[in-house]
Amino acid sequence: MSNSEAPSGRSAGLPTGRAPGRSAVLAGLGGWVPPRQVTNADLSARLDTSDSWIRSRTGIATRHVVAPGDATSDLAVEAGRLALKSAGGADGEDGADAVVLATTTPDRPCPATAPEVADRLGLGGSAAFDVSAVCTGFLYALAAGQGLIAAGTAERVLVIGADAFTTIIDPQDRGTAVIFADGAGAVVLRAGRPDEPGALGRVFLGSDGSRSQLIQVPAGGSRQRSTGVPARERDTYFQMSGQQTFRQAVERMSAVSRQAVDSAGWKLADVDRIAAHQANARILGAVGEELGVPEERFLSNIEHVGNTGAASIPLLLHHSHADRSLGTGDRLLLTAFGAGLAWGATTVVWPDLPG
Ligand code: UT7
Repeated sequence: MSNSEAPSGRSAGLPTGRAPGRSAVLAGLGGWVPPRQVTNADLSARLDTSDSWIRSRTGIATRHVVAPGDATSDLAVEAGRLALKSAGGADGEDGADAVVLATTTPDRPCPATAPEVADRLGLGGSAAFDVSAVCTGFLYALAAGQGLIAAGTAERVLVIGADAFTTIIDPQDRGTAVIFADGAGAVVLRAGRPDEPGALGRVFLGSDGSRSQLIQVPAGGSRQRSTGVPARERDTYFQMSGQQTFRQAVERMSAVSRQAVDSAGWKLADVDRIAAHQANARILGAVGEELGVPEERFLSNIEHVGNTGAASIPLLLHHSHADRSLGTGDRLLLTAFGAGLAWGATTVVWPDLPG
């Protein structure tokens, strides 16, 4: 079917701002959190904080954390397996010829974690690489997957966002320990037409490295080496200037969301659902105010999973699809912000996926 033959109704709202030719289309979805839960009461027992502070300042009630010894690849494999399963069947296709893993917490500094994940999923031999863009990582990875398909390098791409974030959090830092948590989410992209539901719109991405110090793990890289030179213990942990990050998050997600919605040929009023990085419930409220979009259009799972970094958006999609708060034909805006600084947004009309 050509563009001009597109059916009317919902499809009239399909994003228009993408390059002609083949598109990357959402074909499968999966999400996973480790079984171990840490509640606000658990944190209050060992930190100078309280359930009421955490709930009122972040919207988080509980979160999931990896068991000692478990790593990002363990989370990624679970989510990836579910996404591949959900994508299989209908067209008789399965698997993927590329795996893109967005993560802040690779299993080790070298090599990338994606090849091991691919191998454990039975996708050994496929292209596999990590994307490092912290909480915006999933959108960067989605753009990479979209590019692989558009260029003809791949027909099907497994895009995973996974973070064992608690492995880099200072357990004594109440400013971050109450927010960040662990999980994974994944989608399968397949080559398809730009006019079909599930076809990704243009992914808008941006960065501001002049503010890289706002959120960082200072040690463990080439600046403060991971070996041979003792690092200050504090520098081996994730550090965040909360208030400044908050302001940047609202400003950047609002601006990039407008770009993505304009590019799709939509108005903000046309957007049915927003899947925004689950950084803090108050940030989402402020983005909604800035965009003039009612709060109920924002999908949310932060109360139950906290901020899961690169996993945040795909895990949110997985939960929202499962509980039907995201339905077939919904015009969806995705947006994220995080360390780098880095941010991004894109649009998609939600396809008819199993599950
Ligand atoms: O994932 C992508 C990037 N991350 C984000 O976008 C996160 C952005 N930032 C935030 O979500 C918020 O800034 C935080 C949740 C981190 C902090 O909330 P806030 O409302 O900005 O708090 P604050 O840092 O301004 O601190 C307010 C007060 C301070 O006490 P004083 O100085 O007023 O006496 C803090 O010491 O709250 C105190 N505080 C806490 N109290 C109890 C900070 N953390 C806690 C805590 N429990 N966990």
